[in-house]
Amino acid sequence: MAFEPEQARQQELRNMLAHDCGSCHGLTLKGGLGPSLLPDALLNKPEQFLVQTILEGRKGTAMPPWKPFITEQEAVWLVQKLLK
Ligand code: HEC
Repeated sequence: MAFEPEQARQQELRNMLAHDCGSCHGLTLKGGLGPSLLPDALLNKPEQFLVQTILEGRKGTAMPPWKPFITEQEAVWLVQKLLK
């Protein structure tokens, strides 16, 4: 069974995606300062690489690390959401 955050936490993570991530990746995640996070754009990228990017950020770019705010399981869950 895949990990599912509790309902209230899912809502928090969705809000974070829209507001925090959306501030750079666009409110609809189709790109802005950061690249598009829509399924088309992420399809060929390894899942673990995307999870790592979210947790650790990318040095030398505007992408910050989210490790202080979300767990690895939550990052995996977010990537699953992004890919659908
Ligand atoms: C301050 C701006 C900013 C915020 C906020 C931000 N990102 Fe990013 N993100 C970027 C930039 C810029 C890149 C591209 C880095 C590069 O050039 O490799 C990126 C890259 C990524 C990638 C890799 C995309 C790819 O095609 O390889 C993922 C996944 C990602 N961000 C997810 C998130 C998520 C999820 C959040 C919110 C939790 C978030 N980002 C918040 C700026 C941001």
